[in-house]
Amino acid sequence: MRFHVLTLFPEMITDGLNTSIIGRAQNEKIIEVDAIDIRDYTRDKHRHVDDYPYGGGAGMVMQAAPICEAYSALCEKIGKKPRVIYMTPQGHVFNQDIAKELAQEEDLVLLCGHYEGVDERALELLNVESLSIGDYVLTGGELPAMVVIDAVSRMVPGTLTNEESADFESFEDNLLEYPQYTRPEIYENMTVPEVLLSGHHANIMKWRRQKSLERTLERRPDLLETANLDKNDIKYLNSLKNGIISNDK
Ligand code: ADE
Repeated sequence: MRFHVLTLFPEMITDGLNTSIIGRAQNEKIIEVDAIDIRDYTRDKHRHVDDYPYGGGAGMVMQAAPICEAYSALCEKIGKKPRVIYMTPQGHVFNQDIAKELAQEEDLVLLCGHYEGVDERALELLNVESLSIGDYVLTGGELPAMVVIDAVSRMVPGTLTNEESADFESFEDNLLEYPQYTRPEIYENMTVPEVLLSGHHANIMKWRRQKSLERTLERRPDLLETANLDKNDIKYLNSLKNGIISNDK
């Protein structure tokens, strides 16, 4: 899968994604991250990419032409017109389902805004889909684009090794992940839950499922409305809600 990031700060993207799992996936050509400098597509001799907003007001607005020309040059180069995701706090809030859906694409363009935003005409011409990474305002779209690239890349086959597998983790079944422990068995007088040392696979699975349910109920009860629950899960949640089972962490 290839990500094409339209940005005024290309080194932020390349530097931010060249280590760890995403760096390895790039080296192995499972994904490609191509940071395109919008400034290279300005026709003005001062290489301006922004101007004052019509109607007045604070800040500057990114001009349509360099963005549209950068996109056209890309389309010409790759011989197709990929989807464009515009990173903005005004977008739909990004989540795991969207990450999985985007991972089906072969090419994806991420447009990073700066200043007070982007001339609306560029957004219309590129037919953008808007995505937010949460209800807070950042100084630009580069960090959000990196968040999206990381989450989407994990869903591309080959990015994770078997050991890093995304099979069971937070948001599978729309539940949060269970707590994890590793050696030593006792740390600061705190012991590892006994069931995890028992070697009894079925009991371990049951314990983990219950801990996932407890965590989700406590921290993100909103997720339970769309979670994949069976009748044992529902029974367990009801007993938690009724205070029958103590929530020992
Ligand atoms: N640009 C600035 N803030 C943002 C956010 N929260 N999500 C996506 N893009 C942004």
